[in-house]
Amino acid sequence: MLQWDALKQMSAACTRCGLCETRHNVVFGVGNEQADVMFVGEGPGEQEDLTGIPFVGPAGKLLDDMLTIIDLDRNSNCYIANIVKCRPPRNRDPLETEQEACIGYLRNQTMLVKPKIIVCLGRIAAKRLIDPDYRITRQHGQWVEKGGIWMTAIYHPSALLRDVSKRPETFDDLISLREKIKEVGAKV
Ligand code: URA
Repeated sequence: MLQWDALKQMSAACTRCGLCETRHNVVFGVGNEQADVMFVGEGPGEQEDLTGIPFVGPAGKLLDDMLTIIDLDRNSNCYIANIVKCRPPRNRDPLETEQEACIGYLRNQTMLVKPKIIVCLGRIAAKRLIDPDYRITRQHGQWVEKGGIWMTAIYHPSALLRDVSKRPETFDDLISLREKIKEVGAKV
């Protein structure tokens, strides 16, 4: 397992997949590196690629608002990362091969953060981290324990921007997350 500095340096110079050819920045992660709650999105969009920071575009603004509802804040009590660290062209879904090439960074990040809870943001992260057959419409908000970590998925903030009718369900999922935080004694 690499420590933070080595991991960041290695990812910054990564050429493990073709996304390195079009990226402006590697988007490593942001937040409290000792947080008990970790969020995982799918991959950087345009603003993230330009700044090197996860979830800073329109979806990120909504994510921050969602976190605020349950007293979470990227600057203090949670950590945010993505399945792939470089932007897929035109924001297409990251390919299996790209996810496979990149997942080691997220595994290493998870080992260093040691979260009690991981929340997948959207289908891609849920399929990769919870179950390859995950169905986000049916299974969002459900909890599973894997390797001592409580895991769930909620709709991706981009999906909530496109379809506001999904927001009430997501509000319920956020309340469930708040309860889980209390139940497992996660520090927030
Ligand atoms: N969407 C994601 O999945 N991740 C980001 O960092 C930004 C948008």
